[in-house]
Amino acid sequence: MQQRVLTGITTTGTLHLGNYVGAIRPAIAASRSASVQSFYFMADYHALIKCDDPARIARSRLQIAATWLAAGLDPERVVFYRQSDVPEVTELTWLLTCVTSKGQMNRAHAYKAAVDANVAAGEDADAGVSMGLYCYPILMAADILMFNAHRVPVGKDQVQHIEMARDVAQRFNHLFGQGRDFFVLPEAEVEAEMELLPGLDGRKMSKSYDNVVPLFEGGAKALREAIARIKTDSRLPGEPKDPEGQPLVQIFDAFATPAERAAFRQALREGLAWGEAKERLFAQIDGQIGPMRAKYEALMAHPERIEATLQQGAAKARALAQAFLAELRAAVGLTPFTAVPAAGPAAGAKAQALPLFKQYREADGKFYFKLQGADGRLLLQSRGFDSGRDAGQWVARLKREGAAALAELPGARADGVGAAEVAAALALLAAP
Ligand code: TRP
Repeated sequence: MQQRVLTGITTTGTLHLGNYVGAIRPAIAASRSASVQSFYFMADYHALIKCDDPARIARSRLQIAATWLAAGLDPERVVFYRQSDVPEVTELTWLLTCVTSKGQMNRAHAYKAAVDANVAAGEDADAGVSMGLYCYPILMAADILMFNAHRVPVGKDQVQHIEMARDVAQRFNHLFGQGRDFFVLPEAEVEAEMELLPGLDGRKMSKSYDNVVPLFEGGAKALREAIARIKTDSRLPGEPKDPEGQPLVQIFDAFATPAERAAFRQALREGLAWGEAKERLFAQIDGQIGPMRAKYEALMAHPERIEATLQQGAAKARALAQAFLAELRAAVGLTPFTAVPAAGPAAGAKAQALPLFKQYREADGKFYFKLQGADGRLLLQSRGFDSGRDAGQWVARLKREGAAALAELPGARADGVGAAEVAAALALLAAP
């Protein structure tokens, strides 16, 4: 079976070079493998938890969608969508919320950090904590479990959330599966590369450190300006330099072949000026990012194209989500009344046999049908019809109209069978 890989990006800002190297580039490369089915989405429901500025949310999800496409994601090949276009995710969130223990959510790192900060500041422990923040891991579990992803590439900070998704999945399977595992237990996949790219100051590249190199925003000019701010030592042009541990060199590595890496190091050891090294770094990155940036700008000028792509993605995602959610709803007991098991929950909706119509031809050349109860007892026996089509039309009508049609079907009830019993059997067969 194909492995399903799924990941989401929260849409609260723009992307930087670290997001590209750590998440987008490996995801796109992986999506080209024939042995995986990939799901990538804009986590815009999650964005609402962190941001109450509608303009920022709207702009960020557009920019991030354009970034994925410009970076080479093939929307024909993967399922690429906005989380909020799949409302089934929120419905699944509720089903999962009902089997998640509050104690487990109390232990979520993000929530605990907020509580610790409040306590340290002498505030109420839950000050400023929304229920959205508190339940963030359940929404994330729904993202993952909805599509039964096997692998979830994430940063280290998200590993606990994947573990929580596994726990919730296990609990739901146990409570409602009746021997079937509705949910695959997902595995976090933390790429070494994901944490690697340093920012301008050598710490991990992150918006919260204000040390990022923008990916597309601001154009080549912004890229050049950010590179100019990368920290180096103070060795002069011509002086030999130690390339190891230099953020400039580590960033170069992320865009270079082994031969190019070796040549760059060699040049620094031989005294290449930092200014010159930064020029080379710019050329190296822009050679790869530049063509994508042009595509990005073209896409941003035509949001309607991105919208059309995402609508197609949403249709693919929803087709899967709706079918699966119907099964999950039934598993917890949210079934149509026509499918309610007669003998209490122990009988199990799926295990229950249904009444059955049978059509056949007798030696007299005529066409008949009969209705058998779920227990095999004869409930209805038709008279003979001259054509099979007449008999078939009666069956269809009984299924459609139920007991109401019986009045016009003369002498068809089997001996000792009450009208109510036939009506109940027909109700079970009625199309929902
Ligand atoms: N919480 C993730 C982050 O901030 C984004 C996200 C939302 C996600 N839903 C997901 C990642 C499902 C992987 C799978 O990085």
